[in-house]
Amino acid sequence: MSERITLHVNGIDHELPAGIDPETPLLTVLRNDLGLKGPKFGCGLEQCNACKVLIDGADVPSCEIPIARVAGLAITTVEGLGTPDNPHPLQEAFVEEQAIQCGYCASGMIIAAQGLLNRVRYPTDDEIRAALADNICRCGVYERVRRAIKMRIGRPIWEPIYEVVEGEPIPDPPVETDGPLPASLVTTPELDRWVRINPGGTITIFTGKVEYGQGIQTAVAQIAAEELDVDLARIEVAGVATGAAPDEGATVGSLSLETTGPAVRQAAAEARQHLLDLAFEELEAETPAAGLVVADGTITDPATGRQTTYWDLFAGRRFERPVTGAAAPKPAAAHRLVGRPETRLDLLAKVTGQPSYLHDLELPGMVYGRVLRPPAYDAHLVSFDEAAVRALPGVIAVVRDGRFLAVIAEREEQAVRALAAMKEQAVWDNRTALPPQDQLYDYMLAQPSRDFLVDRGTATTDPIPPRLEEEPGDRVLAATYYRPYHMHGSLGPSAAAALFQDGRLTVWAQTQGVYPQQAALAAALAMEPDEIEVIYAEGSGCYGHNGADDAAFDAALLALALPGRPVALQWMREDEHGWEPYGSAMVVKLQAALDEAGAVRAWNHDVWSFAHTTRSRPGAAGTSLVAAWHRAEPIEPFQPGPTLGNNFGEYRNADPLYAFPNRRIVTHFLAGSPLRTSSLRSLGAYANVFAIESFMDELAAAAGVDPVEFRLRHLADKRARAVVEAAAARAGWEPRTWPAGEGRGRGIAFARYKNRQAYAAIVVDLEVDRTTGAIQMKRAVIAADAGQIVNPDGLSNQLEGGFIQAASWTLHEAVAFDESGVRSQDWDGYPILRATGVPELATVLINRPEQPFLGSGEGTQPPAPAAIANAVY
Ligand code: FES
Repeated sequence: MSERITLHVNGIDHELPAGIDPETPLLTVLRNDLGLKGPKFGCGLEQCNACKVLIDGADVPSCEIPIARVAGLAITTVEGLGTPDNPHPLQEAFVEEQAIQCGYCASGMIIAAQGLLNRVRYPTDDEIRAALADNICRCGVYERVRRAIKMRIGRPIWEPIYEVVEGEPIPDPPVETDGPLPASLVTTPELDRWVRINPGGTITIFTGKVEYGQGIQTAVAQIAAEELDVDLARIEVAGVATGAAPDEGATVGSLSLETTGPAVRQAAAEARQHLLDLAFEELEAETPAAGLVVADGTITDPATGRQTTYWDLFAGRRFERPVTGAAAPKPAAAHRLVGRPETRLDLLAKVTGQPSYLHDLELPGMVYGRVLRPPAYDAHLVSFDEAAVRALPGVIAVVRDGRFLAVIAEREEQAVRALAAMKEQAVWDNRTALPPQDQLYDYMLAQPSRDFLVDRGTATTDPIPPRLEEEPGDRVLAATYYRPYHMHGSLGPSAAAALFQDGRLTVWAQTQGVYPQQAALAAALAMEPDEIEVIYAEGSGCYGHNGADDAAFDAALLALALPGRPVALQWMREDEHGWEPYGSAMVVKLQAALDEAGAVRAWNHDVWSFAHTTRSRPGAAGTSLVAAWHRAEPIEPFQPGPTLGNNFGEYRNADPLYAFPNRRIVTHFLAGSPLRTSSLRSLGAYANVFAIESFMDELAAAAGVDPVEFRLRHLADKRARAVVEAAAARAGWEPRTWPAGEGRGRGIAFARYKNRQAYAAIVVDLEVDRTTGAIQMKRAVIAADAGQIVNPDGLSNQLEGGFIQAASWTLHEAVAFDESGVRSQDWDGYPILRATGVPELATVLINRPEQPFLGSGEGTQPPAPAAIANAVY
């Protein structure tokens, strides 16, 4: 009998179960045997370092190192540094600096930071950046991490990362409303579906929007606490699951706060009014109900001093009434919680390694699944020796359904080992034939397209006029801009869990919408939607339609193959890189005429793109779930056509906000992308604004006008002008009409997302190494107007992260492929921005409390690339 292995973790000796393979990665044992969920699986290749732990004080990745190698050494995980009740100063600093978004990287970052501090007591900024260079954060919080580490060691942080300025009042503000009630309340009017008064002094708020690091739960809690006049700590935001949650569609399009915020606000205001009406009766009040005073849920009649509480009045009861719009929410001037940088509710758990993610889920009797995808889109299974895999230790089932192959094992490392064996056993015939990557844009322009005229942001079937031409004396410029395929590249590969029991399927998924996911699963499995429950569980940041829905379907198939046992399904890094739907490649051609005064007289914009939204739709043929394409009885892929509407996919932000007198904007929709595509943060706006804002600098140079001045001359929208001016002022912009030279550059770009959501302008300072061509961003200033601000720290974090992510796309990223398939299979094959490439950040938030919330999660992606390109230019 082999000797049992003992690990010394967080000061405690743990004797591992007999028979455990000594080659098992440390990460697997920490997470599954010791229940330490802080270290995360990100790649299994020691490339992303989400799995870092301290071994004898040195920070090292734990995803590959075998347990046999670390027996007897002192291992420390993020849980060993501190707990929610007694956090370590580094963990406190991460919370205070809000140095996380989704937080999937946080454990690895904190451990890397502690490893650094174990080596260097007072590291410099460059030493901090260098120490974090191996840790990937896909949400882009590197700069906040650097600041948190400085805070921990007591070094000064001279400048705030953001500041809030009150916007100048806008005459006759264009207040945008849905109608008498927010749309979500029209769909789900029952007050009990939004607010519940609990015994024990808490209040539960329901929303249909899911949290994936954008801070929506905290913002919702702030809004509800504000209207109900209770402390924030009394608010619990319910998890999102089919049946329980209001149906607010998918959490997409920077619409979380815009959609659910007004609904929660109205529902909470009506709950408060109902409670005051009850209190008026209960207290036999001498003050009208509207005059009763509420403080943290205690209601006082000022005339008599008599008191009651929400909980004494109503705990456990149901409102049993619809939200009608009868109660008026508080005026902005009365707000005391909305507008404040409240600490996000989920941070402390995440920085101390508490189970917070789908990947951390543990269910009784849970087993582990892995899927073997074909090596390329059009690879067909020739042969596969199932028996050889079945015979491996721990293997419970091998699932083979057409070219969908998967394995289920008792332990996770056994599933991973079986997957490796499956790879060796499977023989494929790869018929994939992609165009050469270096000819991609020519290929796109040669494809038949479906063309539509875009009028005020809306694609129409109106006849497309010929290109607008110049007049005598005008100067004409033309330019073409390209965007490669980009990937979401979530730090944690997609995962899901599923249980099929008593004819019902329960799926834990990181979907953007539990109801759309329920419908898609039902359609693909030929089940009734009410036979399927979808429970949202947070994963790492997703940034759009990534592999999460596919993983949920994979898990469902495995659960159906093994009824009665919950199956945890985790994609490997190559699954995520190789099979997620990418942001589409695009080509944008611009042509404009400048009149003799240097103003734009005519503007032409043509954009070619594949689909940006390929998630299957109820009632439409086909499915977007990968495994369904591969089963023996396949369902064809959903084939999206062009969508006529306002600022959709490929023509999002194609129509500039500038006051050009003549414009012709045409979208050329291409079907049949060589690579799988779907929604990636900001969709087509990223490339359209890249083109527009780069071209604006070319036009400004041709007109001999400073780029800021040139923009302002063409901007009538006061809020747009305000963000451009704020960014320029904060950056110390000096008017210029010629390049800075000396390898240093400064650029500006601006956009209003979808021309109806947040406004953002960005100024980037950078240096170019003229020998190598390497670009180093030094500083970025963001100015944004997102209407009324709920949580400025959260808003700034979103804007910063959006900029950093888009800067990474711009400077480093392109999905690599050749004729036989995708070659970007891991982080080495898809390099992204690291901590060493991140500039200092400063954000100016223009608060407009009298205005509606404007979605901002994708506000900085569109102007980011042109701010960088213009600085290089
Ligand atoms: Fe770093 Fe999401 S916060 S990956």
